[in-house]
Amino acid sequence: NSSEKSQMTNAHMLLQKFYHHLLLNTKEGQHAYDYLTSRDFTDDTIKKFGIGYSLNSWDFALKFLTKRGFKESLLEKAGLLIEKEEKFEYFDRFRDRIMFPIYDHKGNLIAFSGRVLGKGEPKYLNSPETIIFNKSQVLYNFHQARSHIRKEQKVILFEGFADVIAADRAGVFHSIATMGTSLTDDQARIIRRNVENVTICYDGDNAGVEAAFRAANLLTKHGCTIRIATLPDGLDPDDYIRKKGPESFKDDVLGASLTFMAFKLKYFRKGKDLNDEGVKMNYIDSVLQEISYLHNAVERDHYLRQLSSEFSLSLEALKEQLQKFSKKNS
Ligand code: UTP
Ligand code: MN
Ligand code: MN
Ligand code: MN
Ligand code: MN
Repeated sequence: NSSEKSQMTNAHMLLQKFYHHLLLNTKEGQHAYDYLTSRDFTDDTIKKFGIGYSLNSWDFALKFLTKRGFKESLLEKAGLLIEKEEKFEYFDRFRDRIMFPIYDHKGNLIAFSGRVLGKGEPKYLNSPETIIFNKSQVLYNFHQARSHIRKEQKVILFEGFADVIAADRAGVFHSIATMGTSLTDDQARIIRRNVENVTICYDGDNAGVEAAFRAANLLTKHGCTIRIATLPDGLDPDDYIRKKGPESFKDDVLGASLTFMAFKLKYFRKGKDLNDEGVKMNYIDSVLQEISYLHNAVERDHYLRQLSSEFSLSLEALKEQLQKFSKKNS
């Protein structure tokens, strides 16, 4: 019910304020602060994103919140405490972690994600699904990015929140991220309700490329126009910004983003020897297949001409072949 929900949000807010204080102002939080500094987090970003530190204790949150009148069972339901095998004994879920508050699109604090300092498993420990936290509907930083998204008429979608924070530091404020899962229909709907143009900027590994492909297909289905920005292998946007700087990120990564179609063409030919006749014919077929899905006649014409000139094929022959794919689609 709604009073339970608001109590849960209140508990999160009190705890977030204290975690934030521990990180910025205390000896106990110093190593966490040093860790963030080593990753180029500034005081401004720590404040803007409300980042904090959870003490290395089994009962800090438990005591802090029960003293303020919250019931243990409610805190367990909110995901902040864990119950020891039905014994009505509880302990803190988040211990010795960098705490990232998670807000819904209205700006309500509904969950945390806690990052281990350095190496360890899991890297990010997230709140479980609760009556206030539904991961598949949350887009990280959406509440702060929304006005910028509206103003810029575009949004950048990242894989991780470290990437969103690094982008924000680089002055790219219209940045959001999923929470470590594939983009969902609900998230795509929320995005489309606010903006048409989406640039996907996922990690520069195979998983990132595959995930970008899936997200682009889903967003296209929802009516978005997609560009895809790719990173050198092995780097994610946060790594890139720290290594090459904000200007290079804006110019050489975001500025060099490809349309979804251009991205597909690049993807289809990756690692292929187009001098081999069979491989070449397959490639041309995949491209024609993609062209046949395009609704815009000018776009179809553009890519047909590109194929025709690259492989010295007549436009007539390509158009004839395209007809066959178009028939199959209908
Ligand atoms: P990544 O492994 O790419 O993390 O996962 P990252 O964002 O680059 O984090 P840093 O730079 O190592 O600190 C991408 C996203 O997947 C989710 C998180 O939301 C993360 O931002 N994730 C990852 C989890 O939920 N749990 C994990 O253990 C790891
Ligand atoms: Mn990744
Ligand atoms: Mn990674
Ligand atoms: Mn990453
Ligand atoms: Mn990273």
